[in-house]
Amino acid sequence: MFSFFKKKLDTNLNLSFLGVDMHSHLLPDLDDGLQTMEQTIEFAKAMQELGYKKLICTPHILPGVHDNTPEIILARLQEVRTAFKENDIDMPIEAAAEYMVGPEFHEAILNDEKLLSFGNNYILIEMSYAAPSQNIAKVIFDLKIKGYRPILAHPERYNYYLGNNEVYEDFIGRGCLLQINLLSLTGFYGKPVQKAAEYLVKNKMVSFIGTDMHHMGHLNMTKSFAINVKLHQMITELELKNHTL
Ligand SMILES: [Fe+2]
Repeated sequence: MFSFFKKKLDTNLNLSFLGVDMHSHLLPDLDDGLQTMEQTIEFAKAMQELGYKKLICTPHILPGVHDNTPEIILARLQEVRTAFKENDIDMPIEAAAEYMVGPEFHEAILNDEKLLSFGNNYILIEMSYAAPSQNIAKVIFDLKIKGYRPILAHPERYNYYLGNNEVYEDFIGRGCLLQINLLSLTGFYGKPVQKAAEYLVKNKMVSFIGTDMHHMGHLNMTKSFAINVKLHQMITELELKNHTL
């Protein structure tokens, strides 16, 4: 009887307390995320079932690899909104970008080029997994000068920072908010990444949690997270800003 009750309770759990997912690669055929509109529709329905109320998609902008522009991304967003209507999906969807921090991005900031922000002027930035961006401090500084609020995507996934927790405080000190990936807490990206994510959670250094969803493997693991009581408990005390978006 008890196990039946527990099972029922667990399956009622979902991710609705997060409200908004602000990091994903669900717009079709723009980067290494989803490739077809059919997939986008399927994943959007799944995200709704997981409890999400709104999606902010963030295709990569990485010169020479993912040459996306605001115009390309916003045009694809309109196509997706049309497809949502045709498929009776009643969920707001917006688009921004995940900007790779490098010389081109810094130039774009300094030249006042149009950047895709979301919410309260937030800009999602990332670095290579191989080495930190040489100009990261300058980029954060200049983004703030221009009135943006930078968010560093998945700080727990940069191997060169593992074991060096002071660096996370340094980012926050510079006015850069931190976004961890939901799946980092499951061990999906390995034990050291999980440990770093747990450190950030325990020290309440996390402002946003995103799915960073690219493919079915991520979706299946997110579904597992959604019904895991222990993982829920880990993040319920965080003062997340997802719901403000
Ligand atoms: Fe991402």
